[in-house]
Amino acid sequence: MVDLHCHAIYDVDDGSKNIDQTIRMIKNAEEIGYDAICFTPHYMEDGYRTSKVVLEQKLNRIRDLVKLEGIRVDLYLGEEIFIFPDLAENIDDVLTLNNTKYVLFELPLLESLNYVDDVVYKLQSLGFVPILAHPERYYRTVTDFKYIEDLAKKGVLLQININSLIGRYGKQAKLLATKMLKKDMCAIVATDAHSSTGYISAKESLEILEKIVGEDKAYELTSTNPRKILNNEEVNPWSYRKLEKKNNNHESIFKKVFFISKLIKK
Ligand SMILES: [Fe+2]
Repeated sequence: MVDLHCHAIYDVDDGSKNIDQTIRMIKNAEEIGYDAICFTPHYMEDGYRTSKVVLEQKLNRIRDLVKLEGIRVDLYLGEEIFIFPDLAENIDDVLTLNNTKYVLFELPLLESLNYVDDVVYKLQSLGFVPILAHPERYYRTVTDFKYIEDLAKKGVLLQININSLIGRYGKQAKLLATKMLKKDMCAIVATDAHSSTGYISAKESLEILEKIVGEDKAYELTSTNPRKILNNEEVNPWSYRKLEKKNNNHESIFKKVFFISKLIKK
């Protein structure tokens, strides 16, 4: 399996506190069947921010130790970006997942923003594919299912947290995650682990995932799709993508050209 979302890189956000904890988390991940992990530390315009140089130094140190310890897990780097209005314009400041076109972003848990569609549209105009982290966890999405459907129809990929399935984030998140899985709306299931606990409890959650969607689909969500993303390959996970193509036919090419030309002028 490939874990596309976790906070196991040490001392950069609210995840792993030190290198020992990082190595322990990677061992825990390996024990439950992960052979690749993409570190996705938080990037917040007004909060957690770590320079690319520092993140890459830490990644190299972790890779060296993992090799020394004989842990067979490949490590990659990205960021979980807390959405901000000018994200697309500042895309060079953030890390996509393993330097691909895939951009993992999150929303505020409680607040409802009016510029999400705009950011999504601009990212897509530039050729990026936005992935919404844990859609089951937001007040907006829990209270308005259509909101997620609309994002998905626009081509936003949805990444569910595996431990939502055991109620780690409450009953409503568990229900919503299950509903999205049953409707085949999700592209990726990841841990979003902030400590070893995230991996230890993921074992039970993975069993529940298999019960909900079946073995083949669970493999697609935890292995096939995340690996395609790391390789910058196309992920076409679900039926709404077909609808999205039909709906987008009326989109004016001029709108895209206008946005891109504005960026070039910047
Ligand atoms: Fe996260």
